Amino acid sequence: MGQIGRNDPCWCGSHKKYKQCHLAFDEKLKIFREKGYTVPEHDIIKTPEDIEGIKKSSEINRACLDYVAEHIGEGVSTQEIDEWVARITRDMGGTCATLGYEGFPKSVCTSINDQVCHGIPSEDDVLQNGDIVNVDCTTILNGYYADSSRMFIIGDVEPKIRQFVDDVHEAVNVGLKEVKPWVCLGDMGNAINMFCKSKGYSVVEEIGGHGCGRDFHEEPWVSFVSKPGTEMLMVPGLCFTIEPMVNMGKHDIFTDEDNGWTVYTDDGSLSAQWEVQLVVTETGYEILTW
Ligand code: MF3
Ligand code: CO
Ligand code: CO
Repeated sequence: MGQIGRNDPCWCGSHKKYKQCHLAFDEKLKIFREKGYTVPEHDIIKTPEDIEGIKKSSEINRACLDYVAEHIGEGVSTQEIDEWVARITRDMGGTCATLGYEGFPKSVCTSINDQVCHGIPSEDDVLQNGDIVNVDCTTILNGYYADSSRMFIIGDVEPKIRQFVDDVHEAVNVGLKEVKPWVCLGDMGNAINMFCKSKGYSVVEEIGGHGCGRDFHEEPWVSFVSKPGTEMLMVPGLCFTIEPMVNMGKHDIFTDEDNGWTVYTDDGSLSAQWEVQLVVTETGYEILTW
C-alpha cells in the first residue's frame, strides 16, 4: 500500500482523497501489524455504500424472522417455515443464500433441540410442544448478504430450558459489549465462552461466526472460545456475525452422515444459538440484522 499518493482517490471507493479518507486508518493498521497483530486486508473492509446495501438486505432478513416469530408454533412443520421464508424473500425482491449453497437443499436452516445447526427443513419435522428451534436465515439483495438467526420456544418448556435459551441470547449481548475498534476478536470470543461456562454450558469449538456482506462467508472466521488478545483486530468497517452455538451438556458434536449437513450434540443435550450481524464503527458497533 506504499504506492498510493495522499491526493489519490482512496482505495475504498469513497471518491475522497486518500489523505481525507483511509490514510490515518492505514497508518494505524500498520503499527498494529508490526506489533504482530492479525489485521484485516482492505478487501473485507466495508464502505458506507456496502453498509447501505447490507442494510437493505437486512430489511428482508428481519421481515422473514419477524414473520416466523408471529406464525411459528405447535403443529407447524419446518417445511412450512422454509416456504414462508422463500415467499417473503421473493416478494421483497431478494434471494435465499442457503438454497443451493454447497448443495444445501433449502431456503433456511431449522435446527431443533439437540440439532446444533444446519437442520434441513422437512414436512416430516412437525414442531411439538416443548421443542426449542433455531431458524437461521440468510438473504441476498443486490449482491449483499444479511445473516441472522433466532431461537423459538414451542409451547411449554421446563423453566431451566427457557433459561438456557435466554442465557444464550444474553451470551451474544456479552460478546457485543467487547466489540470495539482496535481490540482483538479474541476478547469478544473469550467473554462469550466465560459467560457460558459460568452457567454450566459449553460452547461449540469447531463452528463459528464469519465475516459477511459481499459474500456469505468471508474472513475472518470467528471463534467463541478464543483467548483475549488473539485473533483478528476489529477495525471500523469490519462486518461479521456473532453466532455462538451453545450446548447444555458437552461441547462435542457430530454431523449427520446421511444428509451431510445437520450437526448434532454428541451427548444428545439441547443446543441453542442466536446470530447477529454487525459492523464495527469508529466508536463501537452497529447491528445490521438480528
Ligand atoms: N446461515 C449459516 C451461518 O450462519 C450458514 C448456513 S449454510 C447452509 O453461517 F448451507 F447450511 F445453509
Ligand atoms: Co452466519
Ligand atoms: Co446464519
